[in-house]
Amino acid sequence: MSSGDEREVREGRGERDGRGKAVSALGRPWRAPLDHSGPVFVAGRGAWLVDRSGHRVIDATSGALNVFCGHGVEPVVDAFLAQLRTLAHVDMAQGLAGPAHRLADGLRDIRGHGGERFFFANSGSEAIELAVGLASRYWAAVDERRTDMVAFERGYHGSTALCQALSGLPQTGHAPGQGSVRVHHLTFGGFIGAGQRSEAARAYITARLRSLLAGSAAGTVLIEPFLNVGGGIRLPEGLLGDVRRVCDEYGALLVLDEVFTGMGRTGAWFAHEHPGVRPDLTAFSKGLTNGVCALSAVAADRRVLDRLPAGSIVPYGHTMSASAAACAAASATLEHIRRTGAVEAARASGARLLGALERELSGTDGVVDVRGHGLALSVELDGPDCAGSVQRVVYDLGAYTRQQGSTVLLAPPACLSGAEEERLVDHLVTGVRKVVAAR
Ligand SMILES: Cc1ncc(COP(=O)(O)O)c(C=O)c1O
Repeated sequence: MSSGDEREVREGRGERDGRGKAVSALGRPWRAPLDHSGPVFVAGRGAWLVDRSGHRVIDATSGALNVFCGHGVEPVVDAFLAQLRTLAHVDMAQGLAGPAHRLADGLRDIRGHGGERFFFANSGSEAIELAVGLASRYWAAVDERRTDMVAFERGYHGSTALCQALSGLPQTGHAPGQGSVRVHHLTFGGFIGAGQRSEAARAYITARLRSLLAGSAAGTVLIEPFLNVGGGIRLPEGLLGDVRRVCDEYGALLVLDEVFTGMGRTGAWFAHEHPGVRPDLTAFSKGLTNGVCALSAVAADRRVLDRLPAGSIVPYGHTMSASAAACAAASATLEHIRRTGAVEAARASGARLLGALERELSGTDGVVDVRGHGLALSVELDGPDCAGSVQRVVYDLGAYTRQQGSTVLLAPPACLSGAEEERLVDHLVTGVRKVVAAR
């Protein structure tokens, strides 16, 4: 960042508030319009970020949870720039370009589901809309009464109006009755902390799903394998398999929201590979271009596509859908993940981090639960204030984390070295102890 740019971030460009303080023109996502609090970053490399005061922190947020291989991966940046120079984009509804074909075929190879087709959009929210749109086309052909959906109350599926209606989280702007779809929400009942991934919670959720599918017009079940914004919650072992079985019993479609968990985050290319579940539709996005540009995708099983009304089009598309440059960046990301063994690294690194955090923090004052799935790790504290304080102290110590309510979420990149893992654990443990001791 040049010193001119930096001055601009600090002081705005001439506009002043009532007290004469300079105001920046920037409006941020998920913040009040004039809220410019928080660190200002100027550089990122590997697992590290640098803020404008020169303070270096381990990026345990992987950008916006999407820089899975670490910042500044040259082959991905090079592939993106080379494609931009050759052919940035054509309208994929009119014509075709090679990079999108190559990416779709590359994704089919890694998923190993022969009968899949890949549709591209830009954001995770759009991928969810696309998947839900395909599901509703399916039901229009198969049984037009089954338009309702089932989703987790604490699920988060994005920020478009439909996605907000699907999510049950108050903080993401859900207004009851909003949107055109009727949603029945699954809950964890009275289960909290480690209880949320217990056998009893598994039985409770499965029974609730069965009763919802038996007693409503719901034909589609939408689930995140790890509830990210809802509190970094790991689902009970075996639940996804149960959900698949119950969906099959009632002929319902299973749509997985792997926007966060897809592309290696949990130590498998996709989280549903762990239990060997085959979804009907999978939406994914984060990690697909390693944060170089926006891209999301939906993998649609032929079982769904073959039942769409004859001659039916896929009712979705954007100006930048399947952009050649974005697809080239994504193919280079797949190649980089394969070449560096990032998926296996995420599994091993996640297991080491979880083991160390459990050893140091489980059962200690202020800590409700420690859990994780690959490189998605949660330290649940006894309130959002505590989580916020821990996050601030940890930042000063040298790591950048993400607060989800009472939980401090760690989602570092897979390039984390052993020494960086130790540092990250050390900062977090010190942060929790300091905050709890000071109360
Ligand atoms: C599980 C999940 N679904 C959907 C989304 C929405 O993706 P986007 O912000 O790219 O629209 C997110 C974003 O954090 C997510 O974590």
